[in-house]
Amino acid sequence: MTQDADAKKRRAARAALDLVPDAAILGVGTGSTVNLFIEALALHPDRVRAAVSSSEVSSAKLRAAGVQVLELNDLAGLDLYVDGADEANPARQLIKGGGGALTREKIVAAASRRFVCIVDETKLVTTLGKFPLPVEVIPMARELVARELTRRGGRPVWRAGFVTDNGNHILDVHDLTITDPVGVESAFNQIVGVVTVGLFAARPADVLLIGTAAGVETR
Ligand code: 5RP
Repeated sequence: MTQDADAKKRRAARAALDLVPDAAILGVGTGSTVNLFIEALALHPDRVRAAVSSSEVSSAKLRAAGVQVLELNDLAGLDLYVDGADEANPARQLIKGGGGALTREKIVAAASRRFVCIVDETKLVTTLGKFPLPVEVIPMARELVARELTRRGGRPVWRAGFVTDNGNHILDVHDLTITDPVGVESAFNQIVGVVTVGLFAARPADVLLIGTAAGVETR
C-alpha cells in the first residue's frame, strides 16, 4: 500500500469509529482498511462490548487490541458492521472478497442492523466489474462452476493455492460489466456449487465513508 492510499484508508477507518454506538456489539470485516480500523479501536477498546469478525485474521487482531470476540450463534444480532470493499458504486453496492473472506462478510453484514463501508477514493466506480468478482465455491465443483460462469460471459480464474476459512476455493471472475448487480448476485448464487458471490447488492452498505486527500466524504 502506498503512503497516500494508506492515509486515505486511515481517514475512513477513523471516521467509522465515530459512528460506533456506545457499548456496541460490532461486526468487523477483513482487509487492510479494516486493520487500520482495528488499530484505531485498539486505542479505545472500551467503546465496544464485543465483536464478531469475518475472518480468523481479524479475530486475532481484535483480541490483540483488547476486544472480546464472540460467536455469531451466541448473539441475537449485531449493532453495526464495519468493513472495506474492492469496489463501490453510487448505490453503495459493493464487490468484496479480494481478501477471500466474502462468505463470512456476507453473513456478518446480514446479521447487522447497519453496515458502514470504509474505502479510499480509488474504490469508487460507476459500474461494478472492473475488479474481478470473487466467487467462493465448493472445491469439487470448481471447474463445473467455472464452465457455467464462462457460459455467462465471465472469465473465471482460480485463485490457486488459496483456501478460505471455510475450506473452499475462490474463482475471480474477470471481464464482467455488472449493470444489474442485484440480478447478477441472485443469478450467480443459484449456480450449483457456488457458496457465495462477492456482490453486496441486495444488501448494500448503509453508509460509505470515502477517504480522500482532503478528508472523508460520507454517502
Ligand atoms: C476481504 C474484503 C476486503 O474488504 C476488500 O478486499 C478490501 O480490502 P482492503 O481494505 O485491503 O483494500 O472484501 O475479503
